[in-house]
Amino acid sequence: MTTKITPLSPLFGARLEGVDLRADRSPATMALVERTLDQYAVIALPGQFLDDDEQLAVSELLGDLSRALNPGRAKTQATRLRAELYDISNLDENHGILAEEDRRRQWRESDKLWHTDRSFINAETSYSLLSARVVPPEGGDTGFADMRAVYDDLSDEIKQRIANLRAEHSVWYSRALCGGKDFRDDELAAMPPVSQPLVRVHPRTGRKSIVLASHASHIVGWPRAEGRNFLDELNAMALQPKYRFYYKWSAGDLVIWDNRCTMHRGSHFDDKAYKRDMRRTTVQGPSKYATNAAAE
Ligand code: OGA
Ligand code: MN
Repeated sequence: MTTKITPLSPLFGARLEGVDLRADRSPATMALVERTLDQYAVIALPGQFLDDDEQLAVSELLGDLSRALNPGRAKTQATRLRAELYDISNLDENHGILAEEDRRRQWRESDKLWHTDRSFINAETSYSLLSARVVPPEGGDTGFADMRAVYDDLSDEIKQRIANLRAEHSVWYSRALCGGKDFRDDELAAMPPVSQPLVRVHPRTGRKSIVLASHASHIVGWPRAEGRNFLDELNAMALQPKYRFYYKWSAGDLVIWDNRCTMHRGSHFDDKAYKRDMRRTTVQGPSKYATNAAAE
């Protein structure tokens, strides 16, 4: 099958066609996927129609699976999906649309803030793979922003200022921004705040990115208000339209993004009328397809 790469925006993002990850997860195909990610940072593979096992198999070649807490549930509620799958749907454990008062709605709301997955966890989080199982007839596009391009365009003065700074990231900070409250002690204890550098060098490409996310509350070691203002200023720069695009989903799409150099956000759809069943896997550490092949 011949493959075709079509850019999704002038700066980054591409559609990769002619790859069937259900049938072919060979080292050569996975290397093509990762090379395309190195260049474009976000890739959409249409028509994959992966089931859970297939999505996990693809993901495991790109790194170590992280486990989802699928938080926001009341203590008695079961998860809809197994622990390696992040449930990005508006559905409850019986696959029905979440009740209006269901606490899990808070989590989907805060996905609409620009963020990086798991920046609030101390791990080398790399790719997220989001698979569209059921999509609403309109809305629910996902926005992406290129943090490499943003870094490149910063003034030398700002580059110097941020070179050695760290920000505190907490999932509870971003949840609270969206009206989340009454977090339980067990939830708070499961995900304490961490600090992350403001500048990250990509381990594969050597390119620098600015690390921002709605989870970042303030600059470590600075008076809180000053750090907050500085982060707001950096976010305003980073989220200019020229650095972003929105992806319109079709059922069967698999979109992979590199959390080390992008931000993303969800957007509105009529989530009381329509189902949106999206399942995410997220990996950390180096990819494994090459070493797996060598060991065979
Ligand atoms: C995610 C996420 C946004 C969306 O899957 O991590 O933020 O559009 N998704 O569903
Ligand atoms: Mn996300």
